[in-house]
Amino acid sequence: MPVITEIEDLKRIYKRRVPKMFYDYAESGSWTEQTFRENSSDFDRIRLRQRVAVDMEGRSTSSQMVGRDVKMPVALAPVGLTGMQHADGEILAAKAAEKFGVPFTLSTMSICSIEDVAENTSAPFWFQLYVMRDEEFIANLINRAHQANCDALVLTLDLQILGQRHKDIKNGLSAPPKLTPYVIADLATKWRWGIQMLQTHRRTFRNIVGHAKDVDDVSSLHSWTAQQFDPRLNWDTVKNYRKQWDRKLILKGILDADDAKKALDVGADAIVVSNHGGRQLDGALSSIQVLPQIMDAVGDKIEVHLDSGIRSGQDVLKALAMGAAGTYIGRAFVYGLGAMGQKGVEEALRVIHSELDTTMALCGEKDVKNLGRHNLLVPKDFEGDWA
Ligand SMILES: Cc1cc2nc3c(=O)[nH]c(=O)nc-3n(C[C@H](O)[C@H](O)[C@H](O)COP(=O)(O)O)c2cc1C
Repeated sequence: MPVITEIEDLKRIYKRRVPKMFYDYAESGSWTEQTFRENSSDFDRIRLRQRVAVDMEGRSTSSQMVGRDVKMPVALAPVGLTGMQHADGEILAAKAAEKFGVPFTLSTMSICSIEDVAENTSAPFWFQLYVMRDEEFIANLINRAHQANCDALVLTLDLQILGQRHKDIKNGLSAPPKLTPYVIADLATKWRWGIQMLQTHRRTFRNIVGHAKDVDDVSSLHSWTAQQFDPRLNWDTVKNYRKQWDRKLILKGILDADDAKKALDVGADAIVVSNHGGRQLDGALSSIQVLPQIMDAVGDKIEVHLDSGIRSGQDVLKALAMGAAGTYIGRAFVYGLGAMGQKGVEEALRVIHSELDTTMALCGEKDVKNLGRHNLLVPKDFEGDWA
């Protein structure tokens, strides 16, 4: 097994092993990718305060996210088509999360279904919901998540319509891929991926196909999303979901203090400060840059989580020290999955945990729950002087 010391190592292997269409799908943002880039570069602007001669024995990264005990406050984010990055990808990632002791979130747009994941794991997982026009299908989907013992519903609010990623259109992204001469030439160099894919029967959107009316071909993700996702989604709809779902409700895609207050009003248990990893509104601020104003607005009234741009334990520490109670990784675990399946996701979690633990120690902290602004050096103009 190759020596993995950082997430970037997993990304290099991932790029070699996974068809270009799916690598590009993960490794891109919308339009100019400004927000995608700034999600990471804004983390780099924050520096850490080194403290010395502090007893560092007996450290703990354990915490809680919406009442669930976690080995570290880092969940796996919902990622569509994870089962195209590696055969049975969602099952493998969920198993890795369970083994490590962190939550796994299954996307509506997953390849493995809610039932597939439930049958192959024992820890409850979280289910991410995209609201679609077919109300009966959505009610059924929520019911299936309940039956599968999902203990949190993650309702994504920032994708009523799809932000454009140029590469997906140019690559003709589909699941399973259409075998054009270009795709066949690419697959010839990704034989390991192909062999594993031939050994599974899970190759299309199994939460949807066979469950939604008149849907037998979702392979063209772009056009299907445009037809099915419900652009009418609004705060009244969210209120209804709050009434329907009696377990934890997490609202994902909040990037504005006013919206954070609305999330609080509808009775959500937590919010995820997120710009969808830079995949939706290009030109929006990075998640870490808006976190302080959201903490000021609602931080003492609701649990605040953050994703977008996290590639290391240092990034996790910065988000926690800024006030987030939990974080999510998207691409960082996908790199591991594409590189080496379940083992790769475990490696991604191991790397991030070890970086978090050591960085915490060098900041003079023994308990992840004690991290705070006192651990950070934040540029005075970090939040920006926007008019
Ligand atoms: C390939 C890919 C697919 C995604 N699919 C979904 C999805 O189906 N549902 C959702 O709520 N978010 C989705 N996201 C957004 C992630 O949940 C998360 O917000 C984002 O990946 C965080 O940024 P990071 O990748 O920089 O960690 C997706 C992200 C990626 C990279």
